[in-house]
Amino acid sequence: MPAGFQKLGGERVTGTLILSVFTAVLGSLQFGYNIGVINAPQKIIEQEYNATWLHRYAAPIPHGTLTTLWSLSVAIFSIGGMMSSFSVGVVSEWLGRRKAMLINNLLAFIGGGMMGMSKLCQSFEMMILGRFFIGAYSGLASGLVPMYVGEISPTSLRGALGTLHQLAIVIGILLAQILGLESLLGTEELWPVLLGLTVLPTVLQMALLPFCPESPRYLYIIRCQEHHAKSGLRRLTGRLEVDEDLAEMKEEKRRMEMERKVSIAELFRSPLYRQPIGIAILLQLSQQLSGVNAIFYYSTSIFEKAGVESPVYATIGAGVVNCAFTVVSLFLVERTGRRTLHMLGLAGMAVCAIIMTAALALLDRVPWMSYISMLAIFGFVAFFEVGPGPIPWFFVAELFSQGPRPAAMAVAGCSNWTANFIIGMSFQYIAHYCGPYVFLIFAALLLFFLLFTFFRVPETRGKTFDQISAGFRRCPGSLLDMEEKRSTELEDLGEGSLS
Ligand SMILES: *[C@@H]1O[C@H](CO)[C@@H](O)[C@H](O)[C@H]1NC(C)=O
Repeated sequence: MPAGFQKLGGERVTGTLILSVFTAVLGSLQFGYNIGVINAPQKIIEQEYNATWLHRYAAPIPHGTLTTLWSLSVAIFSIGGMMSSFSVGVVSEWLGRRKAMLINNLLAFIGGGMMGMSKLCQSFEMMILGRFFIGAYSGLASGLVPMYVGEISPTSLRGALGTLHQLAIVIGILLAQILGLESLLGTEELWPVLLGLTVLPTVLQMALLPFCPESPRYLYIIRCQEHHAKSGLRRLTGRLEVDEDLAEMKEEKRRMEMERKVSIAELFRSPLYRQPIGIAILLQLSQQLSGVNAIFYYSTSIFEKAGVESPVYATIGAGVVNCAFTVVSLFLVERTGRRTLHMLGLAGMAVCAIIMTAALALLDRVPWMSYISMLAIFGFVAFFEVGPGPIPWFFVAELFSQGPRPAAMAVAGCSNWTANFIIGMSFQYIAHYCGPYVFLIFAALLLFFLLFTFFRVPETRGKTFDQISAGFRRCPGSLLDMEEKRSTELEDLGEGSLS
């Protein structure tokens, strides 16, 4: 080992760390890809369903049946995710983080294969089932990836590397938006390729995972394999001397052994965990109920209504803004702190939602309002990626020590998917009744989450996992001893919203 390695100390980013994080977030890339991929080819695939129906029953598909089949194709993704995200805790503990990611790829193979072959087999059942499997894959990946990345990252880089999960998701969405263009793969012949393409990152991840070390934190704390944990730590940190890192884990393990094993039910019963799990759930809800998926699922038609000339390219523009600001938040998160960024993001989104509503309402009288509403949508997406996009994912991992973490991740993942499903299903109906004022609902929700974050969420930047959970333990009645003291009457406000 070169001497220079030790001088650089804990800040050093090693090749092994980069490789491991890259390999892990390939799963997030697929997750994003499958969120975005279903939008562009909707009309073409619907025609395919119609043709299949015609072939089977010698009659064109009834309009209602087509709508149902399509909604099912879209929404069953969230159902798959919801179900599998509950098993993240069990699977990650039983197989280990690395092997769990490896085996999860089987789901992606099955799902991608089924969607890719559905046209050939003239079967919309295969398409729907494929969406279910790829949703199940995404549910596991959305829990396993942040867990693994959070555990292998040095404390000072945990936030920045944690943001990469979200960055990979948005790159996946953008990739799907671009490849779905009619001039590329969004055609009658090529859409099966577009959907089946998801197996490519699967193959790459399976090829690279054997070269990544298992999470030392898992090896040491769960499996009690100090020797293996040490060699993993050496590879990840590039230092021979890893006693300091090991000492931190030892301390966490000691604390964990003092705690009893934590189940999901216990998370809610124990006063020790009730507050952090409430925060974890509300942060996940703040991400989904911010209304950002309404933009991602329906942006093209929103842009169309706003009078933007080429809505497809405006959608891709939103995808680019999305990626750019995820990078911005990557640099901000270790400097500004999670709590501040989350609040900045929520506040910015609320303002943009209000501007968007005003612009849409004035559109008939003031034609140039279409530009304002487009800018407001870009701003909405940008502020999302500053805070509510990336932060809830790794914040959950930071709020809990090793014992309750897997159960907490499962609960958080499940609430995220449930909210995702609710928004996906209900937005069109709500939009139908509220017209341009639909985003005022999101503005109100955003304001609520902003207040919640202000009063209830502690800062975790630069703290070890152990210090963070100690903050809850020391004073179970108050989360704020890590932050400045705040007035206690405001506690009641948060208490009410948690229960
Ligand atoms: C299904 O295809 C038939 C024949 O091509 C067409 O007349 C009908 O409008 C299509 N139905 C829908 C809902 O697209």
